[in-house]
Amino acid sequence: MIRIDIISVIPDLIRSPLEHSIVQRARDKGLVQIELHDLREFGFGNQRQVDDYVYGGGAGMVMRCEPVFDCIEALKKERDYDEVIYMCPDGELLKQKRANQLSLKQNIIILCGHYKGIDQRIRDELITLEISIGDYVLSGGELAAAVLSDTICRLIPGVISDEESALTDSFQDDLLAPPVYTRPADFRGLEVPPVLLSGNFAEIEKWRFEKALEITKKMRPDLLDESDL
Ligand code: ADE
Repeated sequence: MIRIDIISVIPDLIRSPLEHSIVQRARDKGLVQIELHDLREFGFGNQRQVDDYVYGGGAGMVMRCEPVFDCIEALKKERDYDEVIYMCPDGELLKQKRANQLSLKQNIIILCGHYKGIDQRIRDELITLEISIGDYVLSGGELAAAVLSDTICRLIPGVISDEESALTDSFQDDLLAPPVYTRPADFRGLEVPPVLLSGNFAEIEKWRFEKALEITKKMRPDLLDESDL
């Protein structure tokens, strides 16, 4: 059982992606608990303000310390957390290995940034891990938090059945996944590779490995540079 607490100014942005398919099944089975927290509940005044101008001048607003510290400290009073993750474009690039590692944790907080960023003191004092989902800038960390949560959830033992096995996903062995086909065997003259219909599992595995290698060489040669293959 893993618990993921996600803190955001727009929790609605995260809700739906985590209420379907494999993640919802994991929640239904009690294998994962996902709690969304609206940072505005910790904001100032009638407007529930959570951001302010940048010291030293410059465009954009910055998320203030007080609401974030209050929210995270309230959570930490309830339980110990293994990681407090901040989603940001300047964090560590998310890879399968990190997702595998996080899926073994018990309690995780994910903080979604917004505006121009968050006060550096939050990063210095509270954040234990900063994660980016790619070299592009999103409007906020919400979609990134949903991506991270999804990839963690599907790895938790018992979430995915053998047929769907997470172990055959792309990246698990530093290879992209080979092509897959389903019925019909002949669609408008486009045929499924005969080896897949042969029933010869050794040959099928060999074909899949070769295809995976071929696709990885073409699309992501960098994966092979880092791998033991
Ligand atoms: N927030 C904005 N852009 C992001 C990105 N690429 N990854 C994670 N969080 C973000």
